[in-house]
Amino acid sequence: MTQDAKSPKKLRRNRSTLTHKVGYALTHPRRVAPYLRRAARDTWLRWKHPDHVGYYRAVMASDSRRNPEAAVGSQTHERWLALGQMQFDYLIEHGLRPGHRMLDIGCGNLRGGWRIIDYLDPGNYYGIDISPDILIAAKKTLVERGLQDKLPHLTITGDLTLDFLPDDHFDVVHAHSVFSHSPLELIEECLAHVGRVLTDQGFFDFTFDRTEGTEHQVLREDFYYRTETLLGLARKHGLSARFMDDWEQRPHGQSKIRVSRSPLPDPDQHGAYQEYVRQ
Ligand SMILES: C[S@@+](CC[C@H](N)C(=O)[O-])C[C@H]1O[C@@H](n2cnc3c(N)ncnc32)[C@H](O)[C@@H]1O
Repeated sequence: MTQDAKSPKKLRRNRSTLTHKVGYALTHPRRVAPYLRRAARDTWLRWKHPDHVGYYRAVMASDSRRNPEAAVGSQTHERWLALGQMQFDYLIEHGLRPGHRMLDIGCGNLRGGWRIIDYLDPGNYYGIDISPDILIAAKKTLVERGLQDKLPHLTITGDLTLDFLPDDHFDVVHAHSVFSHSPLELIEECLAHVGRVLTDQGFFDFTFDRTEGTEHQVLREDFYYRTETLLGLARKHGLSARFMDDWEQRPHGQSKIRVSRSPLPDPDQHGAYQEYVRQ
C-alpha cells in the first residue's frame, strides 16, 4: 500500500458507483473475474447470514481456509510481517510498556499480536475476534513463535459490547483493519462500551478506511467513513477523540483515530503522549 492510496483524488472516490466499477474493470481487466467470483460468493453468504457478524464470520471462514495471512489482508508473508511490525512500532512509539494490559479487537492471526504478546508481561494480552477459523490460525502463530509462556487470552466474540471484560482494566485497546470491515452500528456498539474497560488514562486506537467524499461500502466487506463521522460518534459516547496525523506518514492505506476517557494531548507533542500513557 502506498501513500498514493491517500491522494485527494482517491480519498474522494466512491467505489460503490457503477461508473467507478466500469472504469476499474476497463483499467484492470484481469481483476474482473476474481471480483465477480467474490461478489457471487458474498451474495450467497449474505443470503445465508443476514446479520453482519454472521456474514463476516463466514467470509473469514472461506478466506482463512485458503490462506489466513491473506484473510487478514496480507498477500505475501513479507507484507504480513511488515504490517505487524508497523502496528507494533507505532504502539511502542506511543508509550506501550511491558506492564500494560492490552485488548486487541479483531486480533486475526496475530499479525501484530505476536510481537505485542512477546513484548508484554505474561497474561497482559487479550485478543478477541468473531472468527473461530482465524483464532485457530492465531494459536498456530503463537506456537510457531514459541510464545506459550506468555499466556495470552484469545477469545471468540459475537458482538462488541465487551460485557465479559472488567471495568477500568486496559491501558491500550487496539483495532487494526477491523472498522474498515464494519457497519456503523457495530462501530458505535464498540465506542459505546470501550470507555468502561479502559483505564482512566488508557487509549483506544482504531484504523478506518477514510473517505472525503460520500460514505460507502463495497460488498459489505469494505466500509469507507468520513473522519468527522467517527470522531462525532466517539464524542457522542463521552470520549475524547483525535485523528492521528503521524499515522498518515506510514505506508498504510488506512487512517487512525485515538479515543480516550480523558482529554488527549496534542499529537504534535510527542513527549506529552509518552508522559500521558505512563501516568
Ligand atoms: C483485516 S483483519 C485484521 C486482523 C488484525 N487486527 C491484524 O491487523 O492483523 C480483520 C479481523 O477483524 C475481525 N473482525 C471483523 N469484524 C469484527 C468484529 N465486529 N468484532 C471482532 N472482530 C472482528 C475479523 O474476523 C478479522 O480477523
